[in-house]
Amino acid sequence: MNLEVKLAGVTFKNPVTTASGTFGSGAEYEEFVDLSALGAVTTKGVANVPWEGNPTPRIAETYGGMLNAVGLQNPGIELFCERDIPHLKEKNASIIVNVCGRTVEDYVEVVERLSDEPVDLLEINVSCPNVKAGGIAFGQNPDALYDITKAIKAKAKQPIVMKLSPNVTDITEMAKAAEAGGSDALSLINTITGMKIDIHRRKFVLANQTGGMSGPAIKPVAVRMIYQVHKACSLPIIGMGGVMTGEDAIELMMAGATMVAVGTANFHNPRATMDVLDGIKAYMERYHIEDINEIIGCM
Ligand SMILES: Cc1cc2nc3c(=O)[nH]c(=O)nc-3n(C[C@H](O)[C@H](O)[C@H](O)COP(=O)(O)O)c2cc1C
Repeated sequence: MNLEVKLAGVTFKNPVTTASGTFGSGAEYEEFVDLSALGAVTTKGVANVPWEGNPTPRIAETYGGMLNAVGLQNPGIELFCERDIPHLKEKNASIIVNVCGRTVEDYVEVVERLSDEPVDLLEINVSCPNVKAGGIAFGQNPDALYDITKAIKAKAKQPIVMKLSPNVTDITEMAKAAEAGGSDALSLINTITGMKIDIHRRKFVLANQTGGMSGPAIKPVAVRMIYQVHKACSLPIIGMGGVMTGEDAIELMMAGATMVAVGTANFHNPRATMDVLDGIKAYMERYHIEDINEIIGCM
């Protein structure tokens, strides 16, 4: 049975990775997961300097998922390169680094710092607030997305994967802008903006008022968007959004994802990535599929 997949010129031993921000840099899951058994570990968003994140409370449960407004808390690229990359390499993990920033220059600084590091792919989170453009996220404006993709691609040594926000009317417009800007692959979906109110206290549950919705409740949106993007452009896709089982992963792959990331599932089942991998193998056995690549984008 072949589980190997190729994405943006990089070969991964299987299609299962972690969704950024739900797995740290892997160390906190080592008790449960053999990091080298994953297709890759995708790390929490890292910026040029440390970010404190948002005030608490910044997590809330919802039906079939959760809201978070962690605000991209991270240790900054220096500590990340000194501490997290060597550790992941020691564990023989393939590495996808998720990059965040407030300005184009911030992103470029991180990407340049990573150029000599043993990193397989750079996943660029463009749902961060764009301070220079007055708070409009890069991921919600196709012109801004094109520009930032181009600027990052010009400096990046590793292939880049623009991570798309689902908080847009037409996801294919964003996918095409990233493709035109030179992105090597796309990942989708990031969280869907939501809100929760404590009716007894008449207060917002999250200090930030709004948060990003994730978990199984968003999976149908992810499947729909992956399908649309796969039809609209030719870039390979890392799919995520509500994957809990191997069958969920297969669904995203049939819609068009070459790799699949497991996110919120890790919080209630720290072995979720391993279970998803086992579930994919069980599905392949059941339907006599020799090569996982057969099912990618088959719909
Ligand atoms: C607590 C939390 C933190 C997250 N942090 C990041 C991040 O740093 N960068 C990023 O691109 N996405 C981040 N995400 C989004 C996930 O990577 C993923 O796109 C989304 O949660 C959908 O997948 P899921 O339903 O499997 O969780 C975060 C999600 C959660 C729940």
